Amino acid sequence: MNFELGDVLIRREDIGQRVREMASDISSAYGDKELVLVGVLKGAVVFLSDLIRSLPVSMVIELDFLGVSSYGSSTESSGVVRIIKDLDINISGRNVIVVEDIVDTGLTLSYLMNILRERDPETLDVCALLDKPSRRKTDIDIAFRGFEIPDEFVVGYGLDYSGKWRNLPEIYTVTEKS
Ligand code: IMP
Ligand code: MG
Repeated sequence: MNFELGDVLIRREDIGQRVREMASDISSAYGDKELVLVGVLKGAVVFLSDLIRSLPVSMVIELDFLGVSSYGSSTESSGVVRIIKDLDINISGRNVIVVEDIVDTGLTLSYLMNILRERDPETLDVCALLDKPSRRKTDIDIAFRGFEIPDEFVVGYGLDYSGKWRNLPEIYTVTEKS
């Protein structure tokens, strides 16, 4: 299938505003505790980089990344996930937040959370910019959530279609080319 850019779904200003609110929620929830923020590559990179710069400068945070590759088509997750880049740091006893671009079926995150939980973090939360609850196939507790969106494929602000459009500053829907 071939897709082209559709309409803007979430504008730049609204993303910025919501990211600042989420940072403020994280800072209220964790106070002066040290945090490890784990970005899921590659989609969460743009969101994560804005989020950490909205956290209070007094907060001590460490960054790490997980690279995953999902076996499935480019618009449909299969839930079978392979870790292609593991964490560099040991998260045992740490306060960890996994930062994702979007929770769709929830299968990717549910798999990752199981792996991370086995490593005995003190706390383990999810922070996701977007949530498509209508597509959920497994229960995921999203402690920090940006926007609930309808069942549409979206790109921009880190999210891609076949590696494309991650650089767009706003979030767009895509439409099928006729
Ligand atoms: P899940 O396992 O179905 O929850 O899918 C999670 C992953 O699929 C996300 O981390 C994204 O990389 C990708 N994904 C799901 N929906 C979209 C979308 O609308 N646009 C771009 N990527 C998406
Ligand atoms: Mg992703």
